[in-house]
Amino acid sequence: MFVWCLLSLLALLPVTTGINPGVEVKLTQKGLEYGRQMGIASIQKKLSSIKLPDISGTEHVDPIGKVQYSFTGMQIVNLGLPTSALGLVPGTGVSLSIDNAFINLHGNWRVKYLRIIKDSGSFDLAVSALTIRTTIAVMSDETGRPSVSMTSCTADVGSVKVKFHGGASWLYNLFSSYINKALGSALQKQICPLVAESIADVNPHLKTLNVEAKVDKYAEIEYSMVGSPVISNASIDIGLKGEFYNTGQHKEPPFSPAPFSLPSQNTNMLYFGVSAFTINSAGFVYHSAGALSLNITDDMIPSSSPIRLNTKTFGTFIPQIAKMYPGLMMKLLVKTVKQPIVTFQPNNVTVQTSGLVTAYAIQPNSTLSPLFDLNLDGSISARVYVTELKLAGYLTLNKIDMSLAKSYVGPFQVTSLENIFTMVLKVAVMPKVNACLKEGYPLPTIGKMHLVETQLQVLKDYLLVGTDVQFTE
Ligand SMILES: *[C@@H]1O[C@H](CO)[C@@H](O)[C@H](O)[C@H]1NC(C)=O
Ligand SMILES: *[C@@H]1O[C@H](CO)[C@@H](O)[C@H](O)[C@H]1NC(C)=O
Ligand SMILES: *[C@@H]1O[C@H](CO)[C@@H](O)[C@H](O)[C@H]1NC(C)=O
Ligand SMILES: *[C@@H]1O[C@H](CO)[C@@H](O)[C@H](O)[C@H]1NC(C)=O
Repeated sequence: MFVWCLLSLLALLPVTTGINPGVEVKLTQKGLEYGRQMGIASIQKKLSSIKLPDISGTEHVDPIGKVQYSFTGMQIVNLGLPTSALGLVPGTGVSLSIDNAFINLHGNWRVKYLRIIKDSGSFDLAVSALTIRTTIAVMSDETGRPSVSMTSCTADVGSVKVKFHGGASWLYNLFSSYINKALGSALQKQICPLVAESIADVNPHLKTLNVEAKVDKYAEIEYSMVGSPVISNASIDIGLKGEFYNTGQHKEPPFSPAPFSLPSQNTNMLYFGVSAFTINSAGFVYHSAGALSLNITDDMIPSSSPIRLNTKTFGTFIPQIAKMYPGLMMKLLVKTVKQPIVTFQPNNVTVQTSGLVTAYAIQPNSTLSPLFDLNLDGSISARVYVTELKLAGYLTLNKIDMSLAKSYVGPFQVTSLENIFTMVLKVAVMPKVNACLKEGYPLPTIGKMHLVETQLQVLKDYLLVGTDVQFTE
């Protein structure tokens, strides 16, 4: 039975295990330190909820005889976790240690003896030198999100001191050792389960990882983990799929991610490495969806331009056009013929595109008469930046190479059209592409996360984003 459960659990694990990630995330010591602060605040809150049950009983005391006692209304009045450390346990997870913790409680005591004598008062209990040691495993859950669980915990109630108010001193002696032990162990029993709860409370936050980040009507990005986190003595490294897919249907591109590893930097809390594969998977999706095509009409050319999309302007370069189609407006259909390829070199992002342009004359009855088809190879340089929680870009056209694919109007010199096409691409196509790229593509995020002190470097084959994070509840 158990084996079957285990097997069905394994079947639920992402089938992607073992493939190279497209995006790598590194959580540094600085990031862990931020996690420690949040974790300690959470544990402190949990421990403050400790409720000690009322205790009552009878004890035989010479020469008085039977003494009935009760301790009631015990409440925590002060609790502190001044010293704590979160460390990496290579291969396993993290260790959390809390030292010198203290808890102060206030309560009431009551005794009855010799049948009729009653006495009561209050007491203060001070627990100090409390230590808690726990280890936490970091794993991937069945949805490809990270998850944590407590794997061990020990709590040691260092020293317990009680101070009684009211009553006779012989009573103090009676209670002291008893109450120290009873309350000490009642406390100790509650600590580890509450710490475990605090740790488990992290999981709902981790579950908010956008493993299927929606981009637009064409695309989404998959950010599920491709394997277990790699925990070294310096960082926790998580490999994410980092692949664009067309919305709803996950068709693989004809290329796959190359392995890469992030440099061991540690000035920021978090590093994201976004591979060229991830960006190119976007190109594949948009090209395959036919989204990389555009009709260019004259109204897209600034009115200040002397060059117009009509047979008069084009007729000055290709006289047949003016003769065959006098006085007509034109339209250009530009589309990619294969997916654009992005290359990352240190401080240099370039995009190679291959497209086809078809020029039409627009007849008065709106029929389109084809004039020619041109092959177009463009070299584009890109600037990439992080905005909010997104990666955005801005493209600049460097150079185009054109060749004639087909003419419907007889032979002509393609080079004569180079300037006019460069101008049209710059004023009509690039602004549209840049408007899309400005919208940005979501990075992997958890909860209400904000990036601060963010910097981006272009390295060989990937982008490195270093950032600090802040969470708002
Ligand atoms: C961390 O691990 C690396 C490689 O395994 C090792 O060279 C280095 O000495 C270790 N550092 C510490 C502080 O243990
Ligand atoms: C361009 O125009 C043609 C003809 O009007 C139309 O069939 C096509 O869908 C348009 N393409 C785009 C990308 O708008
Ligand atoms: C960027 O790289 C491309 C090719 O990878 C190269 O042609 C170009 O000169 C480089 N640009 C700069 C500014 O280094
Ligand atoms: C539109 O006009 C052109 C040129 O006058 C003609 O060749 C074509 O048949 C017309 N198309 C329709 C659908 O009327």
